[in-house]
Amino acid sequence: MYYQRVKEAAEFIKNHIPEIPEIAIILGSGLGEFAETMENRVVLKYSEIPHFPVSTVKGHKGNLVFGEVKGRKILAFQGRFHLYEGYKVHEVVFGVRAAGLLGIKSLIVTNAAGGISQFLSPGDLMVIKDHINLSGENPAIGEDAQYFGERFFDMTYAYDREIIEKAKDVYKKNRVDYKEGVYAFLKGPSYETPSEIKMLRILGADAVGMSTVPEVIAARQMGLKVFGISCITNMAAGILDKKLSHQEVIEVSNMVAEKFKKIIVDLIEI
Ligand code: 6GU
Repeated sequence: MYYQRVKEAAEFIKNHIPEIPEIAIILGSGLGEFAETMENRVVLKYSEIPHFPVSTVKGHKGNLVFGEVKGRKILAFQGRFHLYEGYKVHEVVFGVRAAGLLGIKSLIVTNAAGGISQFLSPGDLMVIKDHINLSGENPAIGEDAQYFGERFFDMTYAYDREIIEKAKDVYKKNRVDYKEGVYAFLKGPSYETPSEIKMLRILGADAVGMSTVPEVIAARQMGLKVFGISCITNMAAGILDKKLSHQEVIEVSNMVAEKFKKIIVDLIEI
């Protein structure tokens, strides 16, 4: 049974870390190194955690890292699972659910995304104020959902207002342009067509990506506070007169990594 498997994973994690962390963070493209900046680390390979899915994407590490940032206990997911890799949505959210059973209180989600809004440029860090789930998937579908929370749960305040307010101060302090917006989630792995991007714009999306939303839904069902940031690595299709490339996504996310890390560290501190 799925719930039992998540519980066993949570038990294993609990037995291998010194304390229950307060915050979990999912490290998206380019931010994986964040884990190395944590102190007093304990590294668990996903492959040694019972029932944990194993990452297939090159350059995506598969580690769960416990550590401290400014004295705060953190659990970092170095490597995540995507629907486009062929994982089922319950596998995509396995780690978040294990962290939830473990007793973490909040979840920080990070990703790379394509910019749709005219107010966004490559290199921007967009605070996610809401999302649009266009995948047709939901991790709370099915029998075992009852063990993780209510069947019908609120998503009005999915992205925690208080943390967003704190983030504004952190941006200001770091002299980083504050941007916020709505993240649209599609399964991928193809990038969108220009017409699809036009559609997403009309729907109210500011950025588009292939991750994060399943984890946020699972976290909200468990009552965790959520904070999300998208690194805008490129403009979405049809906005500039050029092709999209995965290489560019990687390059820009690496270029932004230091600024991104600083924002996250400062946010964890307050
Ligand atoms: Cl333009 N689309 C999607 N779906 N994901 C992305 C992206 C675009 N840019 C980075 N990740």
